[in-house]
Order: sequence, then C-alpha cells, then structure tokens
Amino acid sequence: MTGPIQEPGGGQARGDWNTAPTVLEMRDVHAAYHGDILILNGLSMAIKEGQVTGIIGPNGAGKSTALKTMYGFLTPSRGTIVLGGEDITGSPPYDMMGHGVAFVPQNRSLFNDLSVEDNLRLGCWPFRRDKRKVEAALDRVYTQFPILKEKWRDMAGSLSGGQQRFVELGRALVVKPKIIMLDEPTAMIAPRISREIYDFIGTLPEQGITVVLVDQNVRQCTNVSDYIYILDLGRNRGEGTTERFTHDDHLKEMVAEWLDYQID
Ligand SMILES: Nc1ncnc2c1ncn2[C@@H]1O[C@H](COP(=O)(O)OP(=O)(O)OP(=O)(O)O)[C@@H](O)[C@H]1O
Ligand SMILES: [Mg+2]
Repeated sequence: MTGPIQEPGGGQARGDWNTAPTVLEMRDVHAAYHGDILILNGLSMAIKEGQVTGIIGPNGAGKSTALKTMYGFLTPSRGTIVLGGEDITGSPPYDMMGHGVAFVPQNRSLFNDLSVEDNLRLGCWPFRRDKRKVEAALDRVYTQFPILKEKWRDMAGSLSGGQQRFVELGRALVVKPKIIMLDEPTAMIAPRISREIYDFIGTLPEQGITVVLVDQNVRQCTNVSDYIYILDLGRNRGEGTTERFTHDDHLKEMVAEWLDYQID
C-alpha cells in the first residue's frame, strides 16, 4: 500500500493543458539504433508543466525509443530536444538528472543483489555526502511506500514485481525531479498493485512533478493523463486532451483500430 504523500510541494492544483507552459519538447526528431535502424521518423511532442502526458501506441511503435531519445540515450540524427527552453540535443543521459529529469525504464532496473535501501541510496548518489539529506530522502520514500520500510534490508530481487516498481519509483523520486518519465510502469504487475501505482502517478502533479507516461494500458493511461499522443512507426498518429479522446469519434476509431481498444 502506498502511504500519505509528504512534502506535497504546496499541493499544486492541476493546471489546464492549453495554458500550461511547455517544459520538454521533441521537435521533428529522427533517431536510429546503431546508426541506420531508423525508428523515430519526425516525431514531435510537447510535455507540459504539472501535467500528465500519456504516450500510447502498438508494440514496436517507438514509445520507449521516444523516451530514450528525450533522455539522451539516443542522439537524434535530425530534429531537436528542448528542455526548459534550452536546446539539449545530444546531451548525455547522466546530465538529465542534474536538469531535474528522472527516468524509470521499461525493463527492470534494480540491483537484485543489493538491499532495497541500498538501491534507494544509489538514487541519492548526487548528494551522497549530505547524510541528513539522504536520510530525509529515504524517509520520504518510506512514507510514500510503507511496505519498503518493512523490507528495507531485503534483497531487491526477492520482492514482488509491484514492490520492485515501488523501489524504482522511490529511487527516481529521491532527487526531487521536476519531470519524471515512466515507461510501462504497470506492465506485468498484478491489477491491485497497478491501481495503486496509477493512483500514485495521479498524485505526482500535486507534488509539482510533471509526468511523461508511456503505457500499453489505454484505459488507465487515458484515465490518469491530461493529454495523449498516439505513436506508430515512430511518427505522430493522433493527439489530444483526454477529454477529446473520450468525445472525438475519429480519435476513438483510431484507438480502436490501431490498439484494438474501445474507449467508452
Ligand atoms: N536496442 C535496439 N536496437 C535495435 N532496434 C531496437 C532496439 N530497441 C528497440 N528496437 C526496435 O525499435 C522499434 C521500436 O521499439 P520500441 O521499444 O521503442 O517500441 P515500443 O513502442 O516501446 O514497443 P513496446 O510496446 O513493445 O514496448 C522496434 O522495431 C524495436 O524492435
Ligand atoms: Mg516500450
């Protein structure tokens, strides 16, 4: 069970997508693996402050590649990545944390043979010498995810899939990021825990954290997001506010046809 949210960053109200400032942007981005396996084909996307931006699309659409490219794991061959108004195209991923951007990748990223707490402490690396700050950060995680306090000594690999996700989320949040990118946070997770994770994601904007959410689960993604991008073959295929997704027949048809999912 996730616990009460401490330090809510002033309990900020969720603003309106149309008026919220853009904090991260991909502009006409082309990106390839190994130089020639072109995956992103002119992708443009705006991430807005204090909003949850959902990215959906069929398997292999390039959703994870889009996140990896925004984070600097892939360098665009064309186009630009703009963070807080600054062109950061080509910046390495290890700079992103300093820019206030955290990333929880699709594949499991814990050190299985380290304890829960040691995994969390690794997230505190940028301020590891400030012991008080490290303890405060750990306390915040334990308050948000009380089960991790019980399991702090256990090897991360011994936890359930959902509990491991909590550790990954906690580890990403210890640096108090301004933006968090989440790739399929509930894939292969039991439904009850998935609901907790979505509820938790829904509270991040109140804590002043902008969310980018890649998800296969169209229903949950549209429930928690303010704005949705549909990707296929590394291109934009549709976009709109969640409100539009639930009313616009054309978008609904597109989702039904492409993702084999009926939005009602
Ligand atoms: N490291 C890699 N090297 C080469 N090709 C890759 C690599 N990673 C992904 N791809 C290819 O890039 C394309 C897009 O993959 P990506 O993982 O971005 O899709 P996705 O939309 O996240 O899919 P899924 O829903 O299955 O996670 C796929 O054709 C995939 O095979
Ligand atoms: Mg993926």
